Amino acid sequence: MSNPISGFSKLSKSEKIDWIVSTYFADNDTVKNIITQYWNSDQQLQGLHDEFVENTITNYYLPFGVAPNFLINEKLFTIPMVIEESSVVAAVSRAAKFWYHRGGFKAEVLSTTKVGQVHFLFYGDFKKLKMFFDNIKTVLIEDCKPLTENMERRGGGILDIELVDKSDQLDHYYQLHATFETKDAMGANFINSCLEQFAKTLQQQVQGFNAFSTKEKDISIIMSILSNYVPECLVQVEISCPLEDLNEYNISSEEFANKFIQAVTIAEIETYRAVTHNKGIMNGIDAIVLATGNDFRAVEAGVHAYASRTGSYSSLTHAEVENGIFKFWMEIPLALGTVGGLTSLHPLAKLSLELLQSPSSEELMCIVAAVGLAQNYAAISSLITTGIQEGHMKMHLMNILNQYEATPTEKEKMIEYFKSNTVSHTAVSEALQKIR
Ligand code: MEV
Repeated sequence: MSNPISGFSKLSKSEKIDWIVSTYFADNDTVKNIITQYWNSDQQLQGLHDEFVENTITNYYLPFGVAPNFLINEKLFTIPMVIEESSVVAAVSRAAKFWYHRGGFKAEVLSTTKVGQVHFLFYGDFKKLKMFFDNIKTVLIEDCKPLTENMERRGGGILDIELVDKSDQLDHYYQLHATFETKDAMGANFINSCLEQFAKTLQQQVQGFNAFSTKEKDISIIMSILSNYVPECLVQVEISCPLEDLNEYNISSEEFANKFIQAVTIAEIETYRAVTHNKGIMNGIDAIVLATGNDFRAVEAGVHAYASRTGSYSSLTHAEVENGIFKFWMEIPLALGTVGGLTSLHPLAKLSLELLQSPSSEELMCIVAAVGLAQNYAAISSLITTGIQEGHMKMHLMNILNQYEATPTEKEKMIEYFKSNTVSHTAVSEALQKIR
């Protein structure tokens, strides 16, 4: 086992690499080459990326793909997607084109409220705490003015603060539960700064509240932090068409719709299936969230919590046929920004937003939700017809060929051969052996 190192973050980039290479690798030159070949020759651009996080030693490439033909609320989009999974962009593009000819995606933002909480302990009479809170509520908001002025000019700000008694679940536990409107910003920094100010004000004001005993004045702030659970920052998206227009596969449209609805119902009632079903939705959502410089971990956490809001984890999408019309829809919480954070700092995030015609955060919510629904439509329609492996393995073929270091001519021959043969690792290896 190697020894711990102190002062690592203070080393230069090349000193950090030297330490890593000499501590963990035998072949120093090869490893150094791999690390440095991903550096950008443009020093300024590299410097920008170096400063996104601590201890950057190189860049990690992921493909930046695009999915064209997305008709969302009558507007046509080409979607930027950053993802490593081979079949996702192809699947979403196929679904986008199919639905382009059937009216496209209709999306609507239902609400945009975000949440943050100050968690604290109070040792005393709740009625007195409530009286104290009612007295200082305007001061809590007033003390945040330097932080909220800008946001208020843009139409956002603090919406409300509530005092919540949680002491039945944890002794002496109470919250300031605050709601915010953050307009085109995701708002994490804004919300967290306001919350930390609430905590300061709370502790200052408590000293002057004469109805409190010394013990009651000893409020202990545990933490102040936004919540990534945003069930009131919701967007709804749907696609629909006459039943007979579901004619993409070699089965009748009735059979297709029946199997599709059964597949969605299974995901509604069966957790093992629901998790994979929703994972497919997130294949699409994460890819555009990442491309636009948004926080996909926040989105993931919020979405999965929402999927379990009834107490059991369930499908985010739903499907029905009514009066001969097939309808497929989803309601999903998405806290996204189109200003601030990485959105204007990362050149490719900026470019992605420009490609999407500079959307507001509400428009971006609609676009992202449509991509998620398209992904789920594509996955289910493959699952209930050809099976998922056909498309997956066709796309994966190139990865396998690259693993075997196939030449361009070999690749061409293999692509031709596997148009009519089933792709697997063994099959590719054997077919390559034959032509080598
Ligand atoms: C694979 O990344 C995603 C799918 O498994 C989703 C699904 O099963 O619905 C294909």
